[in-house]
Amino acid sequence: MVRTVQRTLVCAGWDDYELLDTGGGAKLERFGDYVLARPDTQAIWQPRLVPDFWRAAHATFRRDAGEGGAWQCMPDMPRSWPMRWNGLSFRSELTSFRHTGVFPEQAEHWTWIDDTIRRAGRPVRMLDLFGYTGLASLVAARAGATVTYVDASRPAMAWARRNQELSGLTDRPIRWLLDDAGKFVAREKRRASEYDALVMDPPVFGRGPKGEIWRFGEHFPRLFAGAADLLSADPVLVLVNAYATEISPISLANVVADSLERRGGTLEFGELVLAPRRPGRHLPTGIYARWSPEPRQ
Ligand SMILES: C[S@@+](CC[C@H](N)C(=O)[O-])C[C@H]1O[C@@H](n2cnc3c(N)ncnc32)[C@H](O)[C@@H]1O
Repeated sequence: MVRTVQRTLVCAGWDDYELLDTGGGAKLERFGDYVLARPDTQAIWQPRLVPDFWRAAHATFRRDAGEGGAWQCMPDMPRSWPMRWNGLSFRSELTSFRHTGVFPEQAEHWTWIDDTIRRAGRPVRMLDLFGYTGLASLVAARAGATVTYVDASRPAMAWARRNQELSGLTDRPIRWLLDDAGKFVAREKRRASEYDALVMDPPVFGRGPKGEIWRFGEHFPRLFAGAADLLSADPVLVLVNAYATEISPISLANVVADSLERRGGTLEFGELVLAPRRPGRHLPTGIYARWSPEPRQ
């Protein structure tokens, strides 16, 4: 049986990332040398910093009447800039979907992946589905894992490979694959491939390279069950992260636990939140579930 533990995971920022304020439907954050103001539907309370502080942001994402919007930038705001986390170097960028190429709260996951792979003390083969700009893959590869990265977006994969170069990790064994996550998992099953670690960060909605539709609520349970079948006899970690779904962390944990039942171990799950450096309100960002095997005797 899998032991389940519900826990809110709190990321209080790092040298190059700080949550400065939240409220009024937005968040104010420092990414490296730049302060960004972005919409956030969770921040329904009032901001604590005065409006002048928010107005001084280097870039502000203004929503339009529909789903979209655009960045309004100060003259000194570059489109893309360098960031660092724990010795990794990567680019952040203002994207048209108000994202920046890094989900800073995931630093909590990176630390966990890094520690777990280093502590394993043996070769670890990791599958990173929906790998985006590659940060989880780079953390794992640096810790000694052999990594298979899968994403449907060519620009995301190019960005991830650039991050690999910037981090000086081009000699590390990472397979970069442009593929639909579901099709890839099905193919790996037929090939009887095995992995010792599984990481996935599926979006609420997405498309594979050939237009394959991905909807979290509809496709996640099947994808997770298939991916869990690829786990070796002695896996070291499983991590699922998700944003913007209407799925409760309990529902996520139920799906994950179903497929890992026979393996025992511990499944920690809950909300992933950002905390400001100075005491203040936590900002919910997403949900996660992460599994570890029974510790070895
Ligand atoms: C932005 S990341 C994950 C971030 C976060 N979970 C979110 O919902 O915004 C999502 C990644 O999934 C990729 N993606 C979307 N649909 C996919 C699919 N069917 N197969 C593989 N990757 C896919 C996107 O290209 C993107 O890089």
